[in-house]
Amino acid sequence: MIVMAMKQGLARMALAMTIGLLVGCGEPGGEGPIVPPPPAPAEYADKHMPAEWWNDAQKLEDGRKLFVGEANPDVNCASCHGKDGKPVKAGATDFRNPERMKLYSDSVWFWRISEGVPNTKMKGWKSKLSDDDRWKLVLYERNFGLAGKAWNEERKQWGDGSLK
Ligand code: HEC
Repeated sequence: MIVMAMKQGLARMALAMTIGLLVGCGEPGGEGPIVPPPPAPAEYADKHMPAEWWNDAQKLEDGRKLFVGEANPDVNCASCHGKDGKPVKAGATDFRNPERMKLYSDSVWFWRISEGVPNTKMKGWKSKLSDDDRWKLVLYERNFGLAGKAWNEERKQWGDGSLK
């Protein structure tokens, strides 16, 4: 009897802890541990930001307009990710965290915006946005956590944007 009661108690505790964890991860900004994203699939692995775009203020401004819904009312990344990159919808990736965002190559970033993340609220945007528009969005989002940096494909890491 006592053993059974203890087992039930434990099961309840485990359940409460699981729910607590799930709720915790769902809070805007509370993303849980940093896990590297999967590598970009073959069709995206060789796609990169056009080199001269990294320091292009006009492209960055175009990206901002897309991100906040000014350019196209059907596209409003800020409605989930927040105007300043601080998530407003549960589970949306926080782009302000450099420790997380430096794990995304420009290809992975572009791939995710294009195809979305299965089984999440993040849908793919390739039917609504041209390649150029999606790169502009990468450029804009990069500024929240990795301002001034550019992806260096040779070194496979983010580096000083002015060196390229
Ligand atoms: C309806 C809400 C919503 C909208 C609108 C939205 N996102 Fe997301 N986005 C999410 C969520 C939720 C995630 C986290 C998915 C996950 O669990 O990996 C996410 C993740 C991401 C990621 C990271 C993917 C990864 O591998 O972790 C990128 C990049 C991204 N969004 C870009 C965008 C861009 C650009 C737009 C606008 C074109 C946009 N999002 C619009 C909800 C949204």
